[in-house]
Amino acid sequence: MMVVPTLVVLFCSIKHVVMLKAEWQKTHVPAVYQKATVTLENAHFEGKTNLKVTSLCGLDCHKRAQLPTYENLKEYLSYETLYLNGSRTLTDVEIRGFIAGLENKQNQRNGVRRKRHIFGLDGRFSILAKNFLFNYPFSTSVKISTGCTGTLVSEKHVLTAAHCIHDGKSYVKGAQKVKVGFLKSKVREKGRAINRINSLPEKSKFHWIRVKRTRIPKGWIKGSANDIGMDYDYAILELKRPHKKPFMKIGVTPPRGRLPGGRIHFSGFDNDRPGNLVYRFCLVKDETFDLLYQRCDAQPGASGSGVYIRMWNRQIRKWERKVVGIFSGHQWVDKNGVQQDYNVAVRITPLKYAQICFWIKGNFVDCRDG
Ligand SMILES: *[C@@H]1O[C@H](CO)[C@@H](O)[C@H](O)[C@H]1NC(C)=O
Repeated sequence: MMVVPTLVVLFCSIKHVVMLKAEWQKTHVPAVYQKATVTLENAHFEGKTNLKVTSLCGLDCHKRAQLPTYENLKEYLSYETLYLNGSRTLTDVEIRGFIAGLENKQNQRNGVRRKRHIFGLDGRFSILAKNFLFNYPFSTSVKISTGCTGTLVSEKHVLTAAHCIHDGKSYVKGAQKVKVGFLKSKVREKGRAINRINSLPEKSKFHWIRVKRTRIPKGWIKGSANDIGMDYDYAILELKRPHKKPFMKIGVTPPRGRLPGGRIHFSGFDNDRPGNLVYRFCLVKDETFDLLYQRCDAQPGASGSGVYIRMWNRQIRKWERKVVGIFSGHQWVDKNGVQQDYNVAVRITPLKYAQICFWIKGNFVDCRDG
């Protein structure tokens, strides 16, 4: 007699799940924490800033690549810290509570092709109206002095792409005095606010805050870790002082099938529209464990933009946006023998979430819920 009501409940709950709006889900997050830190020789800043990262290792190449071992992962997630005075440290990490078998790497080597970042009709919108530009979520997009875009992810941390400060071999020239730019709402002249921001040179459209230290995962550094692509193209910049603006939290990237509408969004300072913040959204076409493949229109200045989505947060009973990826660059992908090009975003996997969160909070206890 008890069977019938149980079935009814089960049926209802399945129906409930199916009908539910897109919701942030608790994700198991391993602990990533520091084991040992050594001092390295001072940085040389010899790299050239190249905002156009292109990887020839596409989807199938990633798929064919060997699964990283636990030791590999510890290596990739170890990180370099660069200070204002040019000194550098390398921190080895320990990982606890990692569920193996989730790292299903995937990929494929293609011929060299011309880069293309705009797909067909340009689907980007310049955000010009001030009530949008200076309000959340657009106000969380900031300019990086090396030419990229970043996202405010705490009171004083900015998430961006690793290639914006390090070319894989060396820190880029501009990383020595890297600054973060906030769009000015007004320019003052003789004490009066004037409204001619658009006529200003690009640099003076922003007010700038110096970066105190930067962190990049060792997985980005060629030769010491993986060379297959963009999987570790992310960095955290810590500002010298708090920016006093709203910021966006980071979150673990859901699988493609759970992205609301299958879409991602990002805003960046595309370099074909100087001084403009450019917003776009698009469908994610494919994914690997570490990357999202999409055909969002983007120019290199948008590198480092935070890719975000909005879902329901049941705990606070509110819709909440979170950064779930970092826009990296371009890849040619061979799909069933047909060459296609994609723009690629780095996913925030549970491990990367643990690492980035540790960089922001300085401890792993506050990083358990992705
Ligand atoms: C550089 O700055 C870091 C962090 O503030 C400090 O620990 C280190 O001793 C400094 N190095 C030099 C050579 O001044």
